[in-house]
Amino acid sequence: MKISASIIRKIHFYSGLTLSLFISIHLFNHLTIYWGEDIYLEFMESFRVVYRNIIVETLLIGIVMIQIVSGINMAKRKKFLKSYDKLHVYSGFYLSFFLIAHVSAILIGRCYFNLDTNLYFGAATLNLSIFPLIFIPYYGLAIFSFFTHIACILRIKMLIRNPEKNYNFHAKIIIASGLIIAILLIIGLIGVNIPVEYKVPFGM
Ligand code: HEM
Ligand code: HEM
Repeated sequence: MKISASIIRKIHFYSGLTLSLFISIHLFNHLTIYWGEDIYLEFMESFRVVYRNIIVETLLIGIVMIQIVSGINMAKRKKFLKSYDKLHVYSGFYLSFFLIAHVSAILIGRCYFNLDTNLYFGAATLNLSIFPLIFIPYYGLAIFSFFTHIACILRIKMLIRNPEKNYNFHAKIIIASGLIIAILLIIGLIGVNIPVEYKVPFGM
């Protein structure tokens, strides 16, 4: 069965809205590190009541997959891209790579290493040995790509409503906010003391 391009776009739009809600709260959770580890873990525990159950988490992982498959399908149809369209598609490709790697890492940490994939699991990569050299750009680009993707969508939606106006400045503000949030979030997670059991997956 062949699904039409407009249906794929609608699916990508609605699953994108749902996923954005999760990601926004998830990123805010990482920022709570500035209030201390206890507040971070407390916030995570309350948020987990919503998504860490078999139904919601299965749905969440399903939405991630739908987002990637529908996004790549739309990206393949786009040709001769310029400026913001390029940013839109490239940020989508990086999000595809990141989401597959990130969700797989969480599932491996939980199912294979029997770890609680909490603050210490996420922060381990940013604090052990030479791993930050890889993981600072890895997480930084993911947060940056998320905001860039959103900025490009809002720009194009506003342009459709008001074709005579220019929304490049608004898009740049959202992209710059993404950069600032990425920097703040990574700085906040650097310096967390990693318990010994979270060093095992890294061969330490
Ligand atoms: C965090 C995950 C993502 C979110 C929240 C998200 C959200 C969205 C939204 C809301 C749109 C606008 C759809 C519309 O025009 O009504 C869109 C467009 C698009 N997305 Fe994503 N997306 C995500 C991941 C991806 C991925 C992984 C790709 C893969 C390459 C991708 C590629 C695209 C493309 C190419 C468009 C432009 C469609 C067009 O204008 O024809 N997205 N995205
Ligand atoms: C410094 C940045 C980040 C860190 C340290 C981090 C860390 C984590 C951790 C530890 C979990 C497991 C949560 C739990 O067990 O309850 C998780 C889950 C998740 N993260 Fe991130 N994350 C980061 C950024 C992102 C970004 C930018 C996205 C999306 C674009 C994202 C998407 C997800 C998703 C979809 C899950 C759910 C996986 C599942 O429940 O199976 N994360 N993340």
